[in-house]
Amino acid sequence: MALLEASNVVAGYGETEILHGVSISVNKGEIVTIIGPNGCGKSTLMKAIVGLVRVRTGAVRFRGVDISRLEPEQTVRSGLCYVPQSDNIFPSMTIRENLEMGAFVRRDDFRHRIDEMFELFPDLKRSARMKAGRLSGGQRQMLAIARALMLDPVLLLLDEPSAGLAPGLIHTVFERIRGINETGVSLLLVEQNARESLRMSDRGYVLSGGDNQIEDSGPALLNNPEVGRLYLGG
Ligand SMILES: Nc1ncnc2c1ncn2[C@@H]1O[C@H](COP(=O)(O)OP(=O)(O)OP(=O)(O)O)[C@@H](O)[C@H]1O
Ligand SMILES: [Mg+2]
Repeated sequence: MALLEASNVVAGYGETEILHGVSISVNKGEIVTIIGPNGCGKSTLMKAIVGLVRVRTGAVRFRGVDISRLEPEQTVRSGLCYVPQSDNIFPSMTIRENLEMGAFVRRDDFRHRIDEMFELFPDLKRSARMKAGRLSGGQRQMLAIARALMLDPVLLLLDEPSAGLAPGLIHTVFERIRGINETGVSLLLVEQNARESLRMSDRGYVLSGGDNQIEDSGPALLNNPEVGRLYLGG
């Protein structure tokens, strides 16, 4: 059984249907990347999975349970954490406060988890008292990811974690993502830096026009001439 299984998901905004029946899955331990042109509905799919956009028809199952009618707070509790494409930190709070906010639904003592995050992201530890708004783009992204990890998710959904970063930093973000995966967290990513993301992915999907177009292993998508021409810059 897949960890996450979205089947024939239809979703949209108001009168407009954006996803016309999209199906994807993530198995335990996998990194899965979704690529596709701007505006095709990648972020909408992520939001539908975590309950921020209503699933009109179709289903989202997580660990065998239908979560497609749950509120975002409930999907978080079930082990799904989502880092949105933008506005994913609190700029006027310090780094430590951001991490504490990330743990808001935890009832136990989460200080040890903050220490673990500082081990995983040493940059953040050095500036723990700094206002998050002063961080560079790359560090912000790390903080956003660390914040989501505060809840010990089973599956982490990252919407364009490397967007807008300098090439050197893009590489660092992907290294960190790989490290997170090695701690046992499964990952579903949306990425514009498709080539690099597919390289570390077990599988990938090409979404286009609100429908799935192609599903394959990361290497197979990288070697697919049509995918290369349309989505990987030749
Ligand atoms: N809140 C909203 N209300 C109405 N339309 C929306 C809303 N959010 C997104 N859309 C529209 O839905 C479509 C899909 O948007 P979405 O953000 O899911 O695409 P995307 O694949 O993530 O694009 P990008 O690569 O630019 O991030 C777009 O046409 C967008 O304009
Ligand atoms: Mg998007």
